Amino acid sequence: MRFDQRHLLGIEPLRADEITTLLDLADQYVTLSRRREKHSSLLSGLTQINMFFENSTRTQSSFELAGKRLGADVMNMSMQASSIKKGETLIDTALTLNAMHPDLLVVRHPQSGAVDLLAQKVHCAVINAGDGRHEHPTQALLDALTIRRAKGRLHRLNIAICGDIAHSRVARSNLLLLHKMENRIRLVGPATLMPAGIDAFGVEVYDNMEEGLRDVDVVMMLRLQKERMDGGFIPSEREYYHRWGLDAEKLAHAKPDAIVMHPGPMNRGVEIDGTIADDINRSVIQEQVEMGVAVRMAAMDLLARNLRARPTELSA
Ligand code: NCD
Repeated sequence: MRFDQRHLLGIEPLRADEITTLLDLADQYVTLSRRREKHSSLLSGLTQINMFFENSTRTQSSFELAGKRLGADVMNMSMQASSIKKGETLIDTALTLNAMHPDLLVVRHPQSGAVDLLAQKVHCAVINAGDGRHEHPTQALLDALTIRRAKGRLHRLNIAICGDIAHSRVARSNLLLLHKMENRIRLVGPATLMPAGIDAFGVEVYDNMEEGLRDVDVVMMLRLQKERMDGGFIPSEREYYHRWGLDAEKLAHAKPDAIVMHPGPMNRGVEIDGTIADDINRSVIQEQVEMGVAVRMAAMDLLARNLRARPTELSA
């Protein structure tokens, strides 16, 4: 079992065997989290600071819960969007944080690359909880765990990622992870929401849901990220739902046992029909939330082990 990372900034730097190590450990944390007594003292004495410069419901709460279940001292710093002035402000924030001696820093930031920059300036382990359109590694890992548990494997699956690919860090991290694990990936959505140069990724691109979903094992829907759009990317939400929203008719083209995923927050009636999202025979959206806590426990556990293996400033 090897995990050689000091930080978890993205899926890009991870090896396939490190992903497997993390998911195997997360499976154990699913078991722990289903027990009445959920506590472990693995992170006892360590300080975890969550810094969210962007709104979050499930990611922030699951990082908080994960840290508490592992016995860490968890602090949430609420960062107002107005406090972001890029560059200098972020480095000043890093210096302030360093003075508080955290061991784990969980950061979400609206700018791509901001979390990497912060990681270079602090002494602790940093986890990227989503930076701009760049990466959201724990989301891709929790999606991978959900798929692996539902399908019994995480390789040679046909997986369709659908909707607003261009603005989605979730899509990007998932693409990287599913590619490393040797799956066949299709991207389905309007051409205006496909990133430029996507063909180089070794994926199949479809602008038609019926064709894109044909015989897939996994249908991953994405939220229409209106806050990241600075122009008219879609004709109207109604038209978008008609062509690219997941409903029973379109889902009928996938394999009969295909699972439906969505990272949340969901726009019912925009990218997905509410009855599909709630169908416990098809939708694994609630499992994704459950796996989120377990994957974040596993990530913090592995980073803390690597932290302990390094000499501290006091003993150095
Ligand atoms: C995603 C995010 O913030 O990137 N949500 C999440 O973490 N569960 C996806 C989204 O906002 O659409």
